[in-house]
Amino acid sequence: MDIKEYIRGIPDFPKPGILFYDISTLLSHADAWQVAMGRMARIIGAYQPDVLVGIESRGFLVAAPLALKLGCGFVMARKAGKLPGGTISHSYDLEYGSDTIEIQDDAIHPGQRVVILDDLLATGGTLSAAIQLCKKVGGDVVGTSALIELTFLNGRDKLDAPFEALISYD
Ligand code: PRP
Ligand code: MG
Repeated sequence: MDIKEYIRGIPDFPKPGILFYDISTLLSHADAWQVAMGRMARIIGAYQPDVLVGIESRGFLVAAPLALKLGCGFVMARKAGKLPGGTISHSYDLEYGSDTIEIQDDAIHPGQRVVILDDLLATGGTLSAAIQLCKKVGGDVVGTSALIELTFLNGRDKLDAPFEALISYD
C-alpha cells in the first residue's frame, strides 16, 4: 500500500506559496491508518523505547496509538501554559518571534529511553526543541520520527538524535 495516496496536498495553506500535507484523509481511512501505524511501530519498536513523547497537537495522533501498540508510556509535549503542576519548558526561535513547549517535570525519569514523535518534519525547529526538552529532564532520546519528512527543508540537520520518517517529499 502506498501511504502517499492517502495524504492530500493543499496549496496555499496556511499562507500563499505553502503546500500543506494534510493527514486528515489518512486518519479517516481505517485500513490505510492501520498500515501506517503498523509500519511506524516497526520503525519505533527497533529503538526499544520506554516512553513515547508526542508533540501537540498532531504529534499526539501519532504517538498515542503507537504507545498502546508497543506497550510504552505516552507523554505530552505541549504548547506553553497547558499542563498542570510542575513543568519544564524550552523556548526556540521561529522566523518571527519565538515559541515555547513544556512537559511535566515528573513525566520522564532520568535514563528512560525516549522516542519523540510528530506528524511532520519541516524546518525541524519543533522536533529539535522537543529533543532539548526531553534531554533537560534526563531522558535518553534514542530516536525521533514523523509520518512525513519535507526533505528539501533539511530539518533533520537540526536534530541531535536519530530520525526516520515513514514517507518523504522532495
Ligand atoms: C506543524 C507540524 C509539526 C511542525 C513542523 O505543527 O505538525 O509539529 O509544524 O514544523 P517545523 O519542523 O518547521 O517545526 P503546527 O505548529 O502547525 O501545529 P499543530 O500540530 O498543532 O497543527
Ligand atoms: Mg505540530
